[in-house]
Amino acid sequence: MAIIVKDSVFTIHTKQSTYQMKVDEQKTLLHTYYGPRADETDFSYLIGFLDRGFCGNVPGTERERVYSLDYLPQEYSTEGSGDYRISALRAQLGSGACDCRLVFDSYRILSEKYYLAGLPAAFDTANEKVQTLEIVLKDVQEAFYVHLLYGVFEEHDVITRAVRIENRMEHSAELLKVMSFGIDFAHSGYDLLHFHGKHMGERQLERGRLMHGITELRSTRGASSHQKNPFVILAEEETTERQGLCYGFALLYSGGFRLQAEVDPFDQTRLVMGLDDEDFRWVLPPKESFIAPETVMCCSSEGLSGLSHALHDTVMEHIIRSPWKSKRRPILVNSWEAAHFDFDRKKILAIAAEAADLGLDMLVLDDGWFGRRDSDDSGLGDWFVNEKKLGGTLKGLVEEIHGMGLSFGLWVEPEMVSEDSDLYRAHPDWAMTIPGREPIRGRQQLVLDMGRDDVIEYLYGRLSDIIDSADIDYIKWDMNRSLAAGYSARLPKERQGEVRHRFVLGVYRLLELLLQSHPGLLIEGCSGGGGRYDMGMLYYCPQIWCSDNTDAIERLRIQYGTSFGYPLSTISAHVSTSPNHQNGRTTPFKTRGICAMQGTFGYELDLSKLAPEEKEQAAEQIRFYKEHYELFQFGRYYRLSSPFARGNYTAWEFADAEKREAIVSVVFTDLHANPKTDIVFLCGLQNDRRYRMYLDGQMQGTYTGAALMNAGIRLPIPKENYDAYQFYLKEEV
Ligand code: GLA
Repeated sequence: MAIIVKDSVFTIHTKQSTYQMKVDEQKTLLHTYYGPRADETDFSYLIGFLDRGFCGNVPGTERERVYSLDYLPQEYSTEGSGDYRISALRAQLGSGACDCRLVFDSYRILSEKYYLAGLPAAFDTANEKVQTLEIVLKDVQEAFYVHLLYGVFEEHDVITRAVRIENRMEHSAELLKVMSFGIDFAHSGYDLLHFHGKHMGERQLERGRLMHGITELRSTRGASSHQKNPFVILAEEETTERQGLCYGFALLYSGGFRLQAEVDPFDQTRLVMGLDDEDFRWVLPPKESFIAPETVMCCSSEGLSGLSHALHDTVMEHIIRSPWKSKRRPILVNSWEAAHFDFDRKKILAIAAEAADLGLDMLVLDDGWFGRRDSDDSGLGDWFVNEKKLGGTLKGLVEEIHGMGLSFGLWVEPEMVSEDSDLYRAHPDWAMTIPGREPIRGRQQLVLDMGRDDVIEYLYGRLSDIIDSADIDYIKWDMNRSLAAGYSARLPKERQGEVRHRFVLGVYRLLELLLQSHPGLLIEGCSGGGGRYDMGMLYYCPQIWCSDNTDAIERLRIQYGTSFGYPLSTISAHVSTSPNHQNGRTTPFKTRGICAMQGTFGYELDLSKLAPEEKEQAAEQIRFYKEHYELFQFGRYYRLSSPFARGNYTAWEFADAEKREAIVSVVFTDLHANPKTDIVFLCGLQNDRRYRMYLDGQMQGTYTGAALMNAGIRLPIPKENYDAYQFYLKEEV
């Protein structure tokens, strides 16, 4: 049994972790333990009840002075309850003040995973049945209920959490902050690992000790953002890639978010995360509910790789729904860096012909095929084919490309509108602009109010029409600016604080509608590259364009950071031209291929302009990726070295679950005369098996797993700047 309830103690076990809560005499839901697998001991014995001074006491406990929510570990803390630390909930229940204090009301256990209406959430499968624990808390006075939901994915050491707030009062409540989870650890001294970035430089790993006071990571941009990612790791000081205790927390939400970590004066650590509350005010009328998005929590005692593996498995099996997740992804060529807006039928067909020749699977026509869209300052919203530019109908073009044996994909950016568009001229109030104020523009475009039904209906109608009219196999769903002020012409003044969350719900609704009517459609997520790379999007899109930065060497860091929380098959990566469009760097074609094979592989250049030797290499890369796609897409992924460390190279490995074969990739980032010896230790093999090792196709010798993992392999000496190598290991039978 994963969930055990005994004497007001709730213990949740996964294979290797234990999570515990307890209802105490004041009916407070205490958090008593989260860590390596323990037992059902009541861990509240760890709490010392002391008069802490300046810590307010809960009514009825004043005389003893030792019962204060200001230091007690709690499951879901509220502002106004005498707890002065960061709170999970800020709500006004009627007085105008935030005065909510939650006490235990009831609980139930379900033999299936809970479901969140309108929001992405991990699901159970035929193979793995998941239990739900629902604990209901209630305001000590008002009929205001908070349902804490726990989904237990025993096999993966994952517990999901979500919160449903229910108003059973006679009057409205106002929600000002509703975090998806809160957790209190009895210790401090943890490192926080997070993934900061920028456009063209997403998910750069940073690790630092949490200090006393509050540390905050936040996106106020209406998207999970390039700048911060809604995934963090808490690790003990000694934790490394291969060993030690660590916890991962990922939010299944694609809008703005807020994570706060606080080390309190008693050296305890609190973490809360949920949707961003900067501009948030949700009016909750009587009888209505509000759902806070889901968080995935994972505890690993096997270092950062153990954590990543558990999360990768969870995302692949329980978060991505697309049937594409288990199929070989199409190797595609994308027209963006090949042509930008400057293309016609001839150019597209020339690229397609080369693609078919080289053995690619799909051509993706990026921005510029619709409305009046020859630059990025017009046309968004006019989702009608520009037949003049395409030299005929889209259907005709797609038929021709299908005829070459390629599938066909199309770029869209549904959430946006250009002022210079027929859509904006017809419906200016569909844009999120404040009447009488000059709007904040980004990439010369405005954001549509996705919380409106008419906007969703229009977009659904246009997109499904185009998909159906031309038999489209794939769409790349882009979002090329951040939200500024959230305003909806449809909502009254006092409800404008709901707009940003309603926007995200609208995006999910549209995705859901499209996938329901087109279940086989492959959707690739994108937001100026990886500006919306989160588990919420992965619920709908099995792959995401990882960055607008296609430089192989900068991608090493971006893809490395992304790999901590997200499976490698979700990382869309392409070979682009050299010198690189974004930073001007020159890299060998081979290196670009090896880096793009770290994720879902493709090309983004004019294939018709490749030199003959590059064509040969491309054909070989495509053959190799197809031959080994199972390793690349479903293999265990190991980070063998960090691109952030001061070394000459970055290395990574894919090994199959049966430990029969592996691919090790190495990219050199520095050159030295009279170089030192670089040795890299492999992972995921079996000690007593023998493996044949090939370097770039050439047999090097046969070695045992023990040798390869414990003594390592010696890397070749790089022959040119940014040289790269690929080792293939196969069990000798
Ligand atoms: C974004 C995407 C690019 C490309 C352009 C088109 O920047 O990330 O890949 O699709 O938009 O405008």
